[in-house]
Amino acid sequence: MDLTTQLGQLRDEGLGAIQEATGLKQLNEIRVHFLGKKGPITAALRGMKEINPEERPRVGKFANEVRDALQRAIATKQDELETAQMAAKLEKETLDVTLPGTPVKTGTAHVLQQIIDEIEELFLGMGYQIINGPEVEEEHYNFEMMNLPKDHPARDMQDTFYITKDILMRTQTSPVQARTLEKHDFNQGPLKMISPGKVYRRDTDDATHSHQFHQIEGLVVDRHITMADLKGTLQLLARKMFGADRDIRMRPSYFPFTEPSAEVDVSCFKCDGKGCAVCKQTGWIEVLGAGMVHPNVLSMAGVNPEEYGGFAFGLGPDRFAMLKYGVDDIRNFYLNDERFLKQFAWKG
Ligand code: DAH
Repeated sequence: MDLTTQLGQLRDEGLGAIQEATGLKQLNEIRVHFLGKKGPITAALRGMKEINPEERPRVGKFANEVRDALQRAIATKQDELETAQMAAKLEKETLDVTLPGTPVKTGTAHVLQQIIDEIEELFLGMGYQIINGPEVEEEHYNFEMMNLPKDHPARDMQDTFYITKDILMRTQTSPVQARTLEKHDFNQGPLKMISPGKVYRRDTDDATHSHQFHQIEGLVVDRHITMADLKGTLQLLARKMFGADRDIRMRPSYFPFTEPSAEVDVSCFKCDGKGCAVCKQTGWIEVLGAGMVHPNVLSMAGVNPEEYGGFAFGLGPDRFAMLKYGVDDIRNFYLNDERFLKQFAWKG
């Protein structure tokens, strides 16, 4: 059989095999078989030197045509098979977009942070600044500057953790009053600030005591600030946190850094003041301490008490949360038990 006939046969055989191929793997085997280095076309071309020279160009050209025809047929078939394979895959993989999705677990602000956020929002709206003070504090600011000199008996109520003789974990957010007063430039306007944060006491932990809890300090200093300003401010706070119908009352009390000082009660949100278990039948619930800033606090911070005066208050977000949500053990806030915390998922 001459070479041209042989090549023609190989081409027909190859095209037939390509046509019938049902998979990419099989197609590749066909390609290797016909066009590979050890395949019949390469072998046939190697036989070229046997034929007479005048014939060679014609046979050579034909051989190239055969190879090209097979390559083209393989490429076309490959496309065809790949498209079919993709279509089959898509067919199998249809997904039902109406099925319920996998829920994404989202966190929520801690209930105490929610209370702090709400209070911050109220005071920001009234033009207060929010100031952060250090939790590791100098004894000087925590006590002396708040008018609690060394050996003052009121220090006993606030025993804490000492880092050194002069440095301690702050027992109250009140030192931020002194720090802010020292820096404030009254030529720029009145001082209105709140300061939320953690405080520490060397208490034995029980249902109402935790060695670490939260406070929010409030301070307003300007000319002509009166106790009526304090009362109006606290009334707004009580209504925001405990309901629009709440009233407050102030009872005389003592704090070293205010004079006069008051304990502030809010009318019971449970019984509306009639008397119930929550308010211990009194109709009132104690929520915070407040008063008019003591002149010593002002003068120690370099502010003239003859010219300036103001009010201060201190409240406990932990206590607010316990009252508001009926939580009976403060330690729940610090155990990180998701079952407890989830109940206060942020309502936006
Ligand atoms: N620092 C007080 C405490 O921890 C709370 C307090 C009471 C702060 C009255 C004040 C205030 O600013 O006027 O018990």
